[in-house]
Amino acid sequence: MELRRVAVLISGSGTNLQALIDATKTGRVPVRIVLVLSSREDAYGLERARRAGIPTLVVSPKDHPSRADYDAAIGCALEEAGAEIVCLAGFMRLLGAELVRAWEGRMLNIHPSLLPAFPGLEVHERVLEAGMPVTGCTVHFVTPEVDAGPVIVQGVVPVLPGDTPEALRERVLEVEHRAYPRALDLVVRGRTRIEGERVVVRDEAPGERLLLHPMLARWIRP
Ligand code: GAR
Repeated sequence: MELRRVAVLISGSGTNLQALIDATKTGRVPVRIVLVLSSREDAYGLERARRAGIPTLVVSPKDHPSRADYDAAIGCALEEAGAEIVCLAGFMRLLGAELVRAWEGRMLNIHPSLLPAFPGLEVHERVLEAGMPVTGCTVHFVTPEVDAGPVIVQGVVPVLPGDTPEALRERVLEVEHRAYPRALDLVVRGRTRIEGERVVVRDEAPGERLLLHPMLARWIRP
């Protein structure tokens, strides 16, 4: 299958970017990452991209004070790279509605909760405060509303007694790293279609859009 051209937008450590690089390098997901764009020049993800030989670009809000200007710079960079699909992977800037609409159905995001629960920031702190026994991650198509949009894949993770936000973050990330390649694979193979508020997957196998943390998988086994 012809490789689809994907741009990944980051702001930080880029462990999800690394998961996407690994999945594409092995050919498991038919994608070529053509650009890694960061909102911060000190993002460690840039180093991951360089090591993988992927072109990088920093588009800092400091250089583009207005939202419209910032979005235009990102839009231009995506066009120039010839991106067909955009993955937000820990990209911590809000994108304006115009840019998001221009990429409707072609822009994905990962969020560390089971959306629509716990959108926004400090997710793991809030999950612990709320006393949830379960949390997870969501890969979804991006819509102008933040951390919303049709869900492609979710991963489920247990919350354990004595968990700290950091422990929970680590456990959720493990599943994020499997969920993002899975969701991107469904999209680039043309198996997803958006129907109103939801994603429909062609020839969907039971469980294909659901990942379990290994701990849960063990507990469920009879
Ligand atoms: C991930 O946990 C991702 O789900 C989250 O930022 C982290 C980035 O980690 N994204 C959001 O909260 C978006 N609302 P990474 O840089 O190691 O991939």
